[in-house]
Amino acid sequence: MPKTVLMCPPAFFDVREPKNPFMGLPIDRVRAQRQWESLRRSLEDAGLKVELIDPVQDLDDMVFAANQVFVGEASALGRFIVPSRMRYASRQLEVAFYVEWFRQRAYHIIDLDLGDEYLEGHGDLLWHPDRSRIWAGYGFRSTRGGVEKFRAAMDKLGFPVTLLELVDQYCYHLDTCLCPLSSQSALIYPGAFSPASSVAVRRGFSRVHELSRDEALEFMGNGIAVHGRFITPRLSRHLSQILGEEGLVPVVVETSEFEKSGGSVFCMKTFID
Ligand code: ARG
Repeated sequence: MPKTVLMCPPAFFDVREPKNPFMGLPIDRVRAQRQWESLRRSLEDAGLKVELIDPVQDLDDMVFAANQVFVGEASALGRFIVPSRMRYASRQLEVAFYVEWFRQRAYHIIDLDLGDEYLEGHGDLLWHPDRSRIWAGYGFRSTRGGVEKFRAAMDKLGFPVTLLELVDQYCYHLDTCLCPLSSQSALIYPGAFSPASSVAVRRGFSRVHELSRDEALEFMGNGIAVHGRFITPRLSRHLSQILGEEGLVPVVVETSEFEKSGGSVFCMKTFID
């Protein structure tokens, strides 16, 4: 189980150009700061240590700490990162700051030659909870070519990567429609996947709980399952029942301001160990 997460304070968070269908309304910065603090507290209450990276002026999406690098650990290499190539130019600038943060802490850096392809870190690349394999979404932000290059690199480290094609523009990142709860169970919104990918993801978990599209669009599939808790922006009766069956205690953290940017709790942190 992870012990440490990396977060970025929302000092310069803003909604400027629309990068996904959620973006359009102006944000309330004071409220955003409060919501971010409460997420930070919930992670600490769950027993995690929270590390911070300094926010940078004008990098309005830097608060979404899940996207700039993929973080892992391999017996051959120790701790490593794979830097992203973000689809939007404004977000590409964030990557160097995150890479530098990890470089200073001696993480090995696996620089893929991504060419014109895109790869968006833990937005699209999810560890199976036992860290035996990786789920990789593509279609809206990461490209198929990008995740294939990532797969080739992970193959060498002994981590199989399963490609999943995303088909609903509202579920533009894998972390909006696949949410592992444990190595055996996951929440999925099946409509977000191509038919073949929906079959592939179901094969990976013995208990698959289906969210409705409304639940997915309200970011209930973007929760954080950690240390017996499930941090989520909302709780439908249906989700509450699933969590009961899985023995997870719900913790609700409001994220309305970040949802106006297309992200919720999962997007605002990355596990670093
Ligand atoms: N506004 C951000 C973007 O569109 C939101 C990123 C959400 N991150 C995530 N892991 N789903 O890039």
